Amino acid sequence: MNWPESVPSALEPAIIDADIAAIRGQWILLAADDLNSEYADDRCANGRARRQEWRMGVIDYRSTKELPIVDIVNLYKSNEWSSAQKPEILLKALKNSENVISAWSEDRLIGLGNAISDGCLVVYYPHLLVLPDYHGRGVGREIIRQLKEIYKDFHQHIIVSEFNAVNFYQSVGFSRAGNTVPMWIYEGNDH
Ligand SMILES: CC(C)(COP(=O)(O)OP(=O)(O)OC[C@H]1O[C@@H](n2cnc3c(N)ncnc32)[C@H](O)[C@@H]1OP(=O)(O)O)[C@@H](O)C(=O)NCCC(=O)NCCS
Repeated sequence: MNWPESVPSALEPAIIDADIAAIRGQWILLAADDLNSEYADDRCANGRARRQEWRMGVIDYRSTKELPIVDIVNLYKSNEWSSAQKPEILLKALKNSENVISAWSEDRLIGLGNAISDGCLVVYYPHLLVLPDYHGRGVGREIIRQLKEIYKDFHQHIIVSEFNAVNFYQSVGFSRAGNTVPMWIYEGNDH
């Protein structure tokens, strides 16, 4: 039986129970009275994978700067970024950014990128990060595509890439910055 395109949020607790049962190696039936019988008899050994599948399937992108601090800290912590240790300042920095594009799955923040610029010539993208569970699903590419579109007439788009992300940035249109060497004054000990 196929997993439905979308699952009513009321079902989620039951599905989470199913996950727990699946983790314990049990096979159970989703038999609660209020479950739609169409998928109430679905066996749950693959419950976790399927739940993730439908959750991850519905991703929307927003340009709001009103971002929940809990989600922000979770996103930055999960990628081990030190700015998670300064949540108030981090939130303010995102609010002060010229543009922020965020990615959402079922109202859960799963990724974001921000941009600061001089308004006409140069734009810098300080942050781009996606929840690890969602890596490799095109979220980073879409966020960068939307940011690049906003600044498409600018002379220079700058990022300082993590070593591990160089191939990603090359795949979304960036190239090494000639003979330049990125330099900074930095208070974190990550990167
Ligand atoms: C880097 C990051 C933002 C990429 O986002 P993502 O949603 O996982 O990437 P996408 O799924 O959009 O990938 C787009 C393309 O880049 C490739 N790619 C993604 N991450 C890659 C990596 N680390 N190395 C090589 N290629 C990579 C994908 O294979 C994909 O190629 P394809 O379109 O030809 O299949 C994400 O992995 C992340 O949050 N990493 C941790 C934080 C970080 O390093 N941010 C960059 C700061 S400079």
